[in-house]
Amino acid sequence: MPVVTTKSLLDRAFSEHYGVAAINVVNDLTMEAVLAAAEQARSPLIVATSVKTVKSAGYEVIFAMWQEMTRSISVPVSLHLDHCPEREVITRCLKTGWNSVLFDGSKLSVEENRRQCIEIVQEAQGYGAQVEGEIEGFKRVEQVTDDATFNQQSLQAAVEFVRSTGVDVFAPAIGNAHGMYKTTPTLDSQRVTDIVEATGIPVALHGGTGMTPDQFSDLIARGCAKVNISTALKIRFMQSGYDYITEHPTEYDPPALFVYQRAQVLDMAKEYFHLFGSEGKAW
Ligand code: 13P
Repeated sequence: MPVVTTKSLLDRAFSEHYGVAAINVVNDLTMEAVLAAAEQARSPLIVATSVKTVKSAGYEVIFAMWQEMTRSISVPVSLHLDHCPEREVITRCLKTGWNSVLFDGSKLSVEENRRQCIEIVQEAQGYGAQVEGEIEGFKRVEQVTDDATFNQQSLQAAVEFVRSTGVDVFAPAIGNAHGMYKTTPTLDSQRVTDIVEATGIPVALHGGTGMTPDQFSDLIARGCAKVNISTALKIRFMQSGYDYITEHPTEYDPPALFVYQRAQVLDMAKEYFHLFGSEGKAW
């Protein structure tokens, strides 16, 4: 099974109660490593790219890598654009061949977010692609103070947004944040259940790095069919580089360093497939 739609990955995970990891990659090495992990674990996978990565590496370069690396892949995978407030970046990714995009209109009023999101859903449909929506935005852990309440819209506002835009997956704020939590976050898991019951669509769990296995299991069972991981990959990639160089201070052999980093990132991805219950779920 080669590249498939993000919708087909999520709908199946949603009905079978497992989570598909959406892992943010930063370059060719990390893209190849997570795809190899998916093959080894027979797991479906969403490869996510940030706007920053897309702009710095180049749309065509990323997509050429993606096409080449998935040419003979035997597990279902898709390519996703993570948090993107910029319409022209969304359009360019859709035109180039990304399978889904997250329109991040969280800094807009809900009304304006909805208006633009409806246009993007229509635009994406023209490419057979899907759209994730959000109305609240996610902080970085550094911005979260212990007594901070997160910026949450009413359940009704969230449900109306999903219904009126036709997004395929929705990313609610439930006390989650991007980055490495200082302590285990307190999450509003009931909100996931409420949104899933009212809309019938899968929820995207953001800020996955640092959540506990129990939190993942609970939230996935409630309908978080897409589980986002970014910081953990950056940490594993960088830390393995530091470790390798510390161990081999006078070795000037980049490919040897890359082999070590690849193995570390691959192991990390497999750990998440195991936690999310997606191992062996390839079809
Ligand atoms: P982490 O960086 O906390 O893993 O969050 C990833 C994410 O939600 C990307 O959108």
